[in-house]
Amino acid sequence: MSGVPPKRDLLSLADLAEDLPALLKRALAMKQARARGDLSTTLQGTNVAMIFEKPSTRTRTSFEVAINDLGGHALYLSPKDMQLGRGETIADTARVLSRYVDAIVYRAFRHQDMAELARHATVPVINALDDREHPCQIVADLLTLYERWGGSWKGRKLAYVGDGNNVLNSLMLGSAIVGLHLTSAIPAAYRPPAATVERAEALARHTGAQIRFNESPIEAARGADALYTDVWVSMGDEAEQGAREKAFAGYQINDELVAVAKPDVWVLHDLPAHRGQEITDSVMDGPRAAIWDQAENRLHAQKAILELLLGAHRGPLGSASGGTERPG
Ligand code: CP
Ligand code: NVA
Repeated sequence: MSGVPPKRDLLSLADLAEDLPALLKRALAMKQARARGDLSTTLQGTNVAMIFEKPSTRTRTSFEVAINDLGGHALYLSPKDMQLGRGETIADTARVLSRYVDAIVYRAFRHQDMAELARHATVPVINALDDREHPCQIVADLLTLYERWGGSWKGRKLAYVGDGNNVLNSLMLGSAIVGLHLTSAIPAAYRPPAATVERAEALARHTGAQIRFNESPIEAARGADALYTDVWVSMGDEAEQGAREKAFAGYQINDELVAVAKPDVWVLHDLPAHRGQEITDSVMDGPRAAIWDQAENRLHAQKAILELLLGAHRGPLGSASGGTERPG
């Protein structure tokens, strides 16, 4: 045996069940250090491939900036420019890329393709969104709440309103890991898969978290410390647009919903938003929105994720150090 630890992937937020609190402390420390002009160089000499099958503004940009900040190099790869787009298999793509790069960030239509890439890659694979989960997003969201709630989520009430989609799946797992009380108002036909709910419930048994559902946005939002929504029509669901717009009418974060939550409620949206559908302009542009900090936190959260999976950070947990500090 070589003594080299096995490679570690991030396909589901549940993969971070052991590390999430320390990971968030590290992300916050790096955020604070960056504001002072200090950047760690923990990814120096590291190359990261980024395969995106779907469009992206935040995930792509924040990963590229995170990798550059940490002294590494990011390669953006579009499947239409790769042999993948002409029928080369995912397994062969994984084998070849693993000979060049130190990690692969992948945004996929299908979770089974994500799992296939991870199975055949010998380097870490990071899920940058698929039809099942969006784990990197939820790490940033928990960081946003952690900052605003002074370092703890325990017993706080979070209400999610809208589609039982990839974002909600990761949000349930993340809430369960950190001890949030999550109530999701979702039309019955659009609830998340039972297997993911059961996984979240199993994690929640260790932390005192609660994972609940109802069909009334107002009841879910009543007394909540935070409200969260996502689009009614995710990438890949466009053929169902008409049916979804009908089913989700009323599943909107608006002033009426904010009014029944706590007065100091924070409103989250992973973006992009369809203003006027799942959220109104008045809430997005209003004083309770934490949405822009949430988008910024993708950058800091992903730095901590990259360090963890690449084994790059060796300083004490929660410290800003790791590798050589260099001026920003
Ligand atoms: N929230 C998010 O993942 O945004 P992008 O699709 O722009 O990456
Ligand atoms: N649920 C959305 C998230 C976008 C970041 C989608 O999959 O399109």
